[in-house]
Amino acid sequence: MTGFNDQVIEEFRQGKGGMSEGWQLILLTTTGAKTGKRRTNPLGYIEIDGKTVVVASNMGAPAHPGWYHNIRRDHRVTIETGTETYEAIASIPPAAERDALFAKVVAAEPGFAEYQAKATRELPVVILHRIDDRVRGLGDFLVEVHDWLREELKTLRAGLEDIVAGRADTLFMEKSLKAHCVSFCEALTKHHTGEDMGAFPMLAQRFPALAPVLTKLGEDHVVVADLQKRIRELVEGYVHGESDPVRLRDEFDALAGTLEAHFAHEERTVVAALNVTSPG
Ligand SMILES: [Fe+2]
Ligand SMILES: [Fe+2]
Repeated sequence: MTGFNDQVIEEFRQGKGGMSEGWQLILLTTTGAKTGKRRTNPLGYIEIDGKTVVVASNMGAPAHPGWYHNIRRDHRVTIETGTETYEAIASIPPAAERDALFAKVVAAEPGFAEYQAKATRELPVVILHRIDDRVRGLGDFLVEVHDWLREELKTLRAGLEDIVAGRADTLFMEKSLKAHCVSFCEALTKHHTGEDMGAFPMLAQRFPALAPVLTKLGEDHVVVADLQKRIRELVEGYVHGESDPVRLRDEFDALAGTLEAHFAHEERTVVAALNVTSPG
């Protein structure tokens, strides 16, 4: 089997490939779940609604092919089409979407129905999303929200500094800071709730490799919510001339530090996957 694969890969790369026994082929390179080594497989693919779709059929064998295990551990892959090589992200669609895609696969290539009938497992369907920085997606939107929240944090911090330093009309500043702080906290809570209820469960399902990261990011949300609660209590109970603005500023800095680390981690880990995943 490996010898045959090597031969197909070599012919493909020499420009003879692209088709094998009537199949339109690509070369899929994944990172070995156990070995960590890059592994290339020639695969038949089907273009459905502009998406590159592959099936982990293993020709109807009882076990999933190795590449399927690999993408569950690391969804970053390389695709060779014969005319170009590009980086992509492999996603596993949820059940209903999988079934709809598989029906289209079978309509295009009836051989997959035979593999499915032979296999004792449900054949997984995988979408290979090309990474294209020119196309904006949900991940870019997430970064925009973070950047807006970062600006709000900066403005609030500057206001607090003015109060601590006794600059400007502190009574007025304190009042406006209270209102601003409450609206900031509400926006932040809404953002994190949206991630907890929407984006993160969707990502965890499509990209099993992200599960540990998503758990950590969800835990960050709890820590941030706790810091926010303390700040809200301080702000709401703030009495002009009595309360200590330094304490409020320090609590605020703790929130800002934790939040920035959280945003940065989230942007490093989930933006690319979010960008290739359009809702619905
Ligand atoms: Fe988050
Ligand atoms: Fe976020």
